[in-house]
Amino acid sequence: SVEQALSGDLSPGTQVTIRGWVRTRRDSKAGLSFINLTDGSCFDPIQVVAANTLPNYAEAVQHLGSGCAIIARGTLVASQGKGQSLELQAEQIEVAGWVDDPETYPIQPKPHSLEFLREVAHLRPRTNLFGAVTRIRHCLAQAVHRFFDENGYYWINTPIVTTSDAEGAGQLFRVSTLDLANVPRTEAGDVDFKRDFFGKEAFLTVSGQLNVEAYCLAMSKVYTFGPTFRAENSNTARHLAEFWMIEPEVAFADLDDIAQLSEDFLKYLFRAVLNERMDDLKFISERVEKNAISRLEDFVSMPFERIDYGDAIEILRNSGVKFEFPVEWGLDLQTEHERWLTETHVGRPVVVMNYPEQIKAFYMRLNDDGKTVAAMDVLAPGIGEIIGGAQREERLDFLDRRMAQFGIETEHYQWYRDLRRYGTVPHAGFGLGFERLVCYVAGLNNIRDAIPYPRTPGHATF
Ligand code: 4AD
Ligand code: MG
Repeated sequence: SVEQALSGDLSPGTQVTIRGWVRTRRDSKAGLSFINLTDGSCFDPIQVVAANTLPNYAEAVQHLGSGCAIIARGTLVASQGKGQSLELQAEQIEVAGWVDDPETYPIQPKPHSLEFLREVAHLRPRTNLFGAVTRIRHCLAQAVHRFFDENGYYWINTPIVTTSDAEGAGQLFRVSTLDLANVPRTEAGDVDFKRDFFGKEAFLTVSGQLNVEAYCLAMSKVYTFGPTFRAENSNTARHLAEFWMIEPEVAFADLDDIAQLSEDFLKYLFRAVLNERMDDLKFISERVEKNAISRLEDFVSMPFERIDYGDAIEILRNSGVKFEFPVEWGLDLQTEHERWLTETHVGRPVVVMNYPEQIKAFYMRLNDDGKTVAAMDVLAPGIGEIIGGAQREERLDFLDRRMAQFGIETEHYQWYRDLRRYGTVPHAGFGLGFERLVCYVAGLNNIRDAIPYPRTPGHATF
């Protein structure tokens, strides 16, 4: 791979074959062509030097342009050019795939707008930026699994098709058959959605939390990491209809424990990117977000601030800032409030704890004050909420009261209630939105650029 060739592990004189896609080609008067070749393995392309003595020089090499796929065989030699140590002296160049129509090939070797690149999501991984984002996303995903494995957590694969609304917020997509001949129907002849999934009504999951709680109350430390779906008709820069979520759940743990876990976890992930993807971070800091590296370093070295929700409301009310949305005890924090708290007031990540019970999910544990629940959100500069979590209500009578209060039908939650009947213990967990994390690390302003194929209202093309 290009990475192996450029990493310094191979010495000059080594014979190599590199397969990849042409970024650019430049010809010198001396009869040499310089081809920048990438295969996605690292940020830098390798320079392939092709001389006009190659048999297919005039007929093929001189027609190579952005996007063409080639197989280059030759010898690694010390580079004359600045910046790079090794280049490939080509002895053979085989064209694997031409670009049909170079004029209209969407990925030209020049900066493209992010809006334009979303229209060609199948080709945008060929750009510098999306190559970098893809490698950073991979690095983060690997670090997620490593962190949990090193700390004694088991990865639990929770279902995507489910009958319960884990957040009780009604943002569900229904799973429905296309088999019109056999679809169950009501007496009026309409599709009977209540029986449409083999006799049941089923949805795409909004969170694996409830399922992972069951495993937590047997395996002690567990996590999920998978796709989740929300029929949230909000066209914002931080919401997707399909996103990936990481949800750890810990038995015999309370709110403070998982506030600490969220801090240790995020810092571990950022350290991994700083250690492993400096090539991509350098590009991001030069072209996308100039503080990309320093803010990760700051994040890792500074303790998170913890603020009680009630105090946060006071601080916001006394800030003198004219917010668009009202600030009042009992109302949820909006993005503008979250960002002001973390960016302006504290200047580092903030954990807001103990929210009013009426604005948080039914499964959150009621505090002794009877007015708040043991909930927490982690707010990150530039994004706002990146993590949402809570200590769970482990007392059956309290849980039943909260479910009744939120009008949740207990029918689909009997198994969840069982967990409070058989060996219940205090437990707590949180959910980290993976794409919000990628946005933060890669300095992206829009969550549509943090996932290969974004699903948002009106967009599910690729
Ligand atoms: O705060 P949320 O809704 O919490 C839960 O789903 C809990 N069940 C998690 C848990 O305690 N196990 O979502 C958690 C995180 C948010 O903080 C946010 O980062 C992300 O998931 N998120 C979204 N990301 C992209 N698009 C959306 N529509 C998102 N909704 C939530
Ligand atoms: Mg939340």
